[in-house]
Amino acid sequence: MALRTLFDAPIVKGTHVLVRIDSDVEIIKGKIFGESAYRLDSALPTLKYLLKKKAIITVMGHCGRPNGKKVAALSLAPVQKYLESKLKAKLNFLPNTRFDAREELNDADYARELAAGQEIFINESFANAHRKHASTVAITKILPSFAGLQFEKELCELACVRDAAEPPTALIIGGAKIETKVPVIARFLKSARHIFIVGASANAFFAARGMQIGDSLVSKESIIAARKFLSHENVCVPIDVIVGQKKGGSKFRAVALPEHGAEKKFKICGSGEAILDVGPATLLLMSENIASAQTIIWSGPAGLFEREPFQLGSARIARLLSYAGRTGTHVVAGGGETVTNILQNNMSKGFAHISTGGGAMLEFLGGVELPAIRALTQKKLRM
Ligand code: 3PG
Repeated sequence: MALRTLFDAPIVKGTHVLVRIDSDVEIIKGKIFGESAYRLDSALPTLKYLLKKKAIITVMGHCGRPNGKKVAALSLAPVQKYLESKLKAKLNFLPNTRFDAREELNDADYARELAAGQEIFINESFANAHRKHASTVAITKILPSFAGLQFEKELCELACVRDAAEPPTALIIGGAKIETKVPVIARFLKSARHIFIVGASANAFFAARGMQIGDSLVSKESIIAARKFLSHENVCVPIDVIVGQKKGGSKFRAVALPEHGAEKKFKICGSGEAILDVGPATLLLMSENIASAQTIIWSGPAGLFEREPFQLGSARIARLLSYAGRTGTHVVAGGGETVTNILQNNMSKGFAHISTGGGAMLEFLGGVELPAIRALTQKKLRM
């Protein structure tokens, strides 16, 4: 892949360098929340390199979805403070790029405004590579552009899994919005021995099979997406789930699910209740079947891990994969919530790669050409 990278960039003392980082992190009361700092930490090697070169650095990025409006809670001031304290250096920062509606329109004028006074653009925002935005795509038409160190690492690590995953491969796909995960499931449908669907993604399969899921998280789009995979034997849904009160509380019960074919109208839970985690029999089944995999890809939590005790399924998966990785399986994972589950449980050891990307990682693994990657590979260098 002819990707132009940081070390190719003609940066000397005093060069004005604009760096697009992954600043879409959780900010609570002006502080970066726990494990979401992982994304910011991933940009440190590139920023350190630029500081060493004595470049004049300006950082830009987005946080949240402010829809073109200025939202105080989504200011990048805490991100700036965090990075400056880590680097022990002052950085210039542009406002959250999504405070301007032209960002998501990939607007050339907005890109020109962002690029004003800059000489080189470094994209260190892999997590946003699936978005065609002014700060990741239009900007590359204006400035000589290069991938940052983490961006390059993401492509190398993930391309190796996408193109050369050693069979047998297993996928664990969780979280909501199964419809956004269709390309990756489709890509591995033939080659993966097991594709485990967990978390809110599994709710769509239960609903598509005619089961009653009470007030569990699900959408029409996800049910339509799930229908595509119902008849595939290697696409496995939980055989038991943990049900709790939708609105709160720690009361729960395990529900064993009927076999395929006998599930029509089976009531998993009723009104006011929701499926909030995978059950113990499912976790056991997963651990037995995953043991033989050579490559494992994980994205998306198995339950509502933010609420006790529904973190247990995701914690158990993190532990299982960490052990698998330590005994020779090639394990990659990605997505903000997945990374949180791995780091909160101190289970990063064993993972070959923990991606900063969620949607971007899944699209890349699914074989989709991501616009921000294309923008860094396609154009002739203008110097
Ligand atoms: C992410 O967190 O996956 C990226 O920052 C993209 O965010 P978006 O889904 O709001 O575009």
